[in-house]
Amino acid sequence: MNNPFLWPDTTTLQAGRLWIGGCDTTALAEEYGTPLYLFDETTLRATMRAYRKAFAAAYPAECRIHYASKAFLNTAVAQIAAQESLGLDVVSAAELLTAQRAGLAAEHVHVHGNAKTADELLRALEYGVGAIVIDNRDEIARLAALTASRSTVQAVLLRIAPNVTGDTHAHISTGATDAKFGLPLDTLDAAVEQVLAAPGLRLIGLHAHIGSQLFEPEDLAEAVAVLVAQAARIRARYGVVIGEISPGGGLGVPYTADTPPADLGRYARTLAATLVEQCRVHGLTPLPRLTIEPGRSIVARAGVALYRVVARKPGYYLHIDGGMADNIRPALYGARYTALLANRAADPAGPPIHVAGRYCESGDVLLRDAPLGHAEPGDLLAVATSGAYTLSMASNYNLTPRPAVLLLTNGVARLIQRRETEADLLARDLWL
Ligand SMILES: Cc1ncc(COP(=O)(O)O)c(C=O)c1O
Repeated sequence: MNNPFLWPDTTTLQAGRLWIGGCDTTALAEEYGTPLYLFDETTLRATMRAYRKAFAAAYPAECRIHYASKAFLNTAVAQIAAQESLGLDVVSAAELLTAQRAGLAAEHVHVHGNAKTADELLRALEYGVGAIVIDNRDEIARLAALTASRSTVQAVLLRIAPNVTGDTHAHISTGATDAKFGLPLDTLDAAVEQVLAAPGLRLIGLHAHIGSQLFEPEDLAEAVAVLVAQAARIRARYGVVIGEISPGGGLGVPYTADTPPADLGRYARTLAATLVEQCRVHGLTPLPRLTIEPGRSIVARAGVALYRVVARKPGYYLHIDGGMADNIRPALYGARYTALLANRAADPAGPPIHVAGRYCESGDVLLRDAPLGHAEPGDLLAVATSGAYTLSMASNYNLTPRPAVLLLTNGVARLIQRRETEADLLARDLWL
């Protein structure tokens, strides 16, 4: 492929057709229908391993990689994460259930969210998760009440809003004091006191997540420095040892050829070096556990979306059979993608053309000015880097079923999530 940073590792062109994971994508579209999401197992596992290796090499103490499952989750993906010794971050009861079904050890599951319900908290307590990452003081009160009569003590991290913002789109920037997530620094002590007063809770760490699609590790390192400074202050004031520092996820991926890939090694080294140095400066020993929560950078490039061209508005648009209901990112914040025609990938590019989704919103345009070959109805469009924040944010707009998902490995395609049916869509409706 002309840009290996955008497509799965196993991508090849054979007789003008796109092959992934040893499978002919044109044949897969025939067999399973479209829209179809393809995940390359080789790329997924290699990325997970690269993360573990990079941080193990960079950080001299314990380090954990937790896949942020909001990027894309189903049982098979959770199983792969568990097999690759990754933990999982979950945000809802069903994400928690998926972790359980996939056999993840409870201690490797962290529960996130700014509005966790009492039911979700109870489910997390019953599963015995490794930690609940507390977002706000109301949550502490709720958790304190839920844990008061339990025999086990629940480990918690406090999520701070470090007032560090990375260079990314406002919709995915989360580190400012006025962002919706995390405790403003001037409320941290009150939160610590609240946790310390709850016999059912044990404060083990501090967390921050400043945003997504970040390319400068220095921004993330700044958050690490704030976390360590707060950990040192908490130890001095309350005598509590903060044993875990979690600077979240956020590493970016290229979606188009004009963006160079992020350097995972540099990211790991920058975060680890900052943590070691800041602990030295503040006299914090032993070194805390470092927990990293990548989502997008684990799963984005392993995923390719496959659509059928349905119709044309010559000179302006190709109309495809998917769009904003399976991938809201272009409509939500102008995300850009790279695509090719999977069944005629070697054709020379024609004049740039927009690719319109099938949904009843004029903002439903998946690609703008895409340099594709001449396309006819029936041709197949493959969109690269479609693994993250696509299906996990999918809807049933216009009452359309959500796509099927295949896992591709060495010439074998396994259905890991079936296509939704019309019956699924109507199953919740009740007659008057
Ligand atoms: C708390 C938390 N951790 C990790 C992530 C993963 O971020 P990314 O997919 O950019 O790596 C997110 C995403 O928004 C998040 O909210």
